Amino acid sequence: MASGKFITLEGVDGAGKSTHIPFIADTLRSFGMEILLTREPGGTPLGEKLRELLLREPMRPETETLLMFAARREHLEQVVWPALQRGVTVISDRFTDASFAYQHGGRGVPLAKLEQLEQWVQGDFQPDLTLLFDLPVAVSTQRLAKARDPDRFEQEGADFFDRIRNAYLARAAKFPQRFRVIDSGQGIPEIQAGLQTILMALQ
Ligand code: TYD
Repeated sequence: MASGKFITLEGVDGAGKSTHIPFIADTLRSFGMEILLTREPGGTPLGEKLRELLLREPMRPETETLLMFAARREHLEQVVWPALQRGVTVISDRFTDASFAYQHGGRGVPLAKLEQLEQWVQGDFQPDLTLLFDLPVAVSTQRLAKARDPDRFEQEGADFFDRIRNAYLARAAKFPQRFRVIDSGQGIPEIQAGLQTILMALQ
């Protein structure tokens, strides 16, 4: 049985998730937890190669979905599950909720296909805590517009991100036990105070 905690971070591109990763990791370390920071797609040598393809190479939505889950299986077996077994707390910058949001919500891949892949790749394994950084799409796309060299996802329009945001919020409503929605429109001190309270519950 896994003994470390598995924490995932989610949100549309530009919602500010990356800004808060160091604070989250430091807060958990201050509780005496050993932390492993990782990301999806990626987190393993093969996964990082798949990430390059996923972010840069044009492909069909089905192919994109399958590659996300292929990278995920490698990540779980090689990195996430062994670390949890050692008692390490794993923080993953995105996980399966991103596939439901982007590939189902954004690209329209049927929900049932995602559920089949989820079951195959991870069985009943789920995060202990999912932090969803939520921001109106008008604001997040404005932030993205400033990004240099945008990837295949970041180049999409506001309606794509609107569908993704709604799919994420629907996931949060469906799984309220593990999801915490963070209003990314607040200032950084307010967000950090909220995160501190949420993370204290993990101790
Ligand atoms: P992201 O995590 O936003 O990294 P960065 O901050 O470096 O841009 O980029 C990963 C992209 O991959 C993001 O646009 C969402 C997408 N993605 C999916 O579409 N499905 C998935 O299952 C995962 C894990 C990510």
